[in-house]
Amino acid sequence: MAASLVFRQLFDAASSTYTYLLGDPATRQAVLIDTVFEQHLRDRALVGELDLRLVAVVDTHCHADHVTGAWRMQQSTGCRIGASRRYQPPIQGVDLPLDHGDRVAFGGRHLEVRATPGHTDGCLTLVLDGHGMAFTGDALLIRGAGRCDFQQGSARTLYRSITQQIFTLPEACLLFPAHDYNGRTVSSVAEEKAHNPRIGGGADERDFVGFMENLNLPHPRQIDAALPANLRSGRPADGKVPRPADWGPVRQTYAGVLEIDPEWVAEHLQDVHVLDVRETGEMQESLGRIAGSQLVPLDQLKARLSEIPRDKPVVTVCHAGTRSAQATVILRGAGLERCANLHGGMLLWSQLGMPAQR
Ligand SMILES: [Fe+2]
Repeated sequence: MAASLVFRQLFDAASSTYTYLLGDPATRQAVLIDTVFEQHLRDRALVGELDLRLVAVVDTHCHADHVTGAWRMQQSTGCRIGASRRYQPPIQGVDLPLDHGDRVAFGGRHLEVRATPGHTDGCLTLVLDGHGMAFTGDALLIRGAGRCDFQQGSARTLYRSITQQIFTLPEACLLFPAHDYNGRTVSSVAEEKAHNPRIGGGADERDFVGFMENLNLPHPRQIDAALPANLRSGRPADGKVPRPADWGPVRQTYAGVLEIDPEWVAEHLQDVHVLDVRETGEMQESLGRIAGSQLVPLDQLKARLSEIPRDKPVVTVCHAGTRSAQATVILRGAGLERCANLHGGMLLWSQLGMPAQR
């Protein structure tokens, strides 16, 4: 039986990019493949909520259509940045330079690195130990292949990469590309060998090159912004880490809620406005309420928005942190951007022994 694996496929709709999270359940070590800059908070939250420790964020290649989230992920987790060592000039910030035959280990599992140039010089295919899954980047797409008309591309090179490094994997090996524009999520070696219109069904090198050299694709929309940023592993030109909030250590959950920890709130009660959205009757219960908090039950919040002061960031609170999460959505919808949900609500507040009025 195959060794177990934590596996998630994530999607960025703006660039149609897939990001993959692979983790070793025994050691909790994990790797992320092909992150997207704008999806950093989502990906970071998932790694945390699954209790994984990221050892590396790896790009299959220097992308032209989106900015990588590699640098942001390194800033927030301390993980290494892996990418091909073949690019000239080399990608700045890479501290795990990769080439054919290398391994990216995470706990007891690993990815085997195969060089599959052709779309770019430094394209890598990452093959999971056991050869049951491969992450093909833009070398082989589902029923397609990466364009070869810029970034040192070569259709002849790509033909050899696909046939010698990907089609030699077991027929049942699942293939996961870096992009799909038609909602397709996964394929297999057997499937692409049979049905890929560019390189399947017995197509030889002439067939493939003839097809690829006549695609007549438009210039990629994002290339002028994405390439320079990706040559820095996605570090912004000003070197500043984008933060979800300027007023406190706010984080975004995988569910998309902005929340803040009770320890920080307890120490900064003077700097925030606490909005309690429980029903009036709940105040009599044993959990009590935070001193100075304003009580506006959630079902009245929309009608009473004008009562919420705007001079301080708002921390919303309820019994367990669910209704108050919805309160942040209402507040943000009303233009009150500086707000966050108290993680765990009064339940966690009380468990932690934080002061409450009863
Ligand atoms: Fe690409």
